[in-house]
Amino acid sequence: MKKTHFGFETIDAAQKEKRVADVFDSIAAHYDLMNDLASFGLHRRWKRNMVDRLAVHEEADILDLAGGTGDLTRLFLEKCPRATVILSDINATMLRLGRAKLIRQNFSPLVLQCNAEALPFADQTFDAVSIGFGLRNITDKEKTLAEMRRVLRPGGIAAILEFSRVAGFLAPFYDFYSFTVLPKLGALISGDQASYRYLAESIRVHPDQEKLRKMMLHAGFDEAEYYNMTFGIVAVHVGYVH
Ligand SMILES: C[S@@+](CC[C@H](N)C(=O)[O-])C[C@H]1O[C@@H](n2cnc3c(N)ncnc32)[C@H](O)[C@@H]1O
Repeated sequence: MKKTHFGFETIDAAQKEKRVADVFDSIAAHYDLMNDLASFGLHRRWKRNMVDRLAVHEEADILDLAGGTGDLTRLFLEKCPRATVILSDINATMLRLGRAKLIRQNFSPLVLQCNAEALPFADQTFDAVSIGFGLRNITDKEKTLAEMRRVLRPGGIAAILEFSRVAGFLAPFYDFYSFTVLPKLGALISGDQASYRYLAESIRVHPDQEKLRKMMLHAGFDEAEYYNMTFGIVAVHVGYVH
């Protein structure tokens, strides 16, 4: 049976989707607050920076995968009010909260529950596909990258915002923060230490910047590049379809 990572655990690949669903069902209600606290608000800057730098045209068709509570979807809608942006996620609880948040912010979101590993769209449907802090939670990353590539039109771009490999000098502090402080903060805010331990561990087993770039090329992107933010705590990978 095919194996995969769930944080530092090795589990049957077939179990991962359910284990990840349990994590996000458990933390959904406190997800936005925890993001602000755990990243000292930096996640907002990382997301805005990625969307600001992305070359998407005014009336683009954009798919936000693993979109959760909708931050990237909102930023795309703010940047390109005439674009069609779909907020998608596998998790109904996260999507419900995301949809409600976007409506409170005066947007009329298009929302779709779907697995990023098997997209219910024809080839060449979108001009841009994004995934923010989602890829490392997905069982089959290769399949997901290939799906992102498949649904892009010629000239399309894929943008992946994800935790990555931090600069060496920061690693000891970052490890202490991730494995000691973060799970305790998670326990305090959402009553769920284990889920935040998983999230910290999942960052360590996620491919580093160069490996993910190669995976994108292998998945069929014609070009792939990345840039780091905050000393590599996160990286944005951009894949291009010619
Ligand atoms: C850390 S949240 C990121 C949410 C949002 N993109 C953000 O940046 O705040 C990760 C999301 O990935 C979703 N997810 C996990 N596996 C998925 C899959 N196979 N397909 C689509 N979404 C998935 C989870 O349900 C969760 O909402």
